Amino acid sequence: MRTRKAILPDAEQIHDLIAGYSGDGTLLPRTLAEICENVRDFVVLENDDGRIIGCGALHLYGTHLAEIRSITVAPWAQGRGGGGRLVKALMAEARRHRVDCICLFTRKPDFFAAQGFSVAQREDIPDKIYKDCHACPRYHCCDEVAMVRGDLPKFAILPEPANWLVKLQGWSEDAGTRGSN
Ligand SMILES: CC(C)(COP(=O)(O)OP(=O)(O)OC[C@H]1O[C@@H](n2cnc3c(N)ncnc32)[C@H](O)[C@@H]1OP(=O)(O)O)[C@@H](O)C(=O)NCCC(=O)NCCS
Repeated sequence: MRTRKAILPDAEQIHDLIAGYSGDGTLLPRTLAEICENVRDFVVLENDDGRIIGCGALHLYGTHLAEIRSITVAPWAQGRGGGGRLVKALMAEARRHRVDCICLFTRKPDFFAAQGFSVAQREDIPDKIYKDCHACPRYHCCDEVAMVRGDLPKFAILPEPANWLVKLQGWSEDAGTRGSN
């Protein structure tokens, strides 16, 4: 079993893997077009015979934040370390880009806690909230747990109406940590 960066011919298999877990809301649905467009975000997990048995993506918001998305291993191949390998490969990609904080939303917090992630407040990662959550029908009844690994972001880059750089409240530059006010 090994991981590698995805290439365009992998897109259909990535699509099928994600579709297997998007019907019940475990994963956000991704269209084939979206996967092709963002294929450089993806890492795939290959069996010893070269068959793709898992995938995961790292979405970059900036050096302050990246998000692990669309991570899954085929049901018959779970529990053999593949999910852990995918997380490691995505973390290495984040390090390559000098990203300080990796976030994700999940209903499997125990798996990600075992990978070094801690539970966070949604307000700590506004880039993610603006990207996906505010348009989600489950915004006020979300059952996913926000988790992070690394230093919480000191700012956010919000896409609308312009490229806004927003300093987060409570951040004290002098102390280099979140203040109490
Ligand atoms: C979550 C998922 C990717 C894990 O993949 P996997 O290949 O089964 O994980 P691994 O075999 O690498 O497990 C790594 C560790 O996490 C543990 N683990 C795996 N799944 C777990 C779960 N659901 N809850 C708690 N711990 C879990 C394993 O016991 C293992 O611990 P160990 O290293 O002490 O033995 C896989 O279960 C999956 O595809 N689930 C459906 C899609 C999904 O929920 N994706 C996450 C959405 S954010």
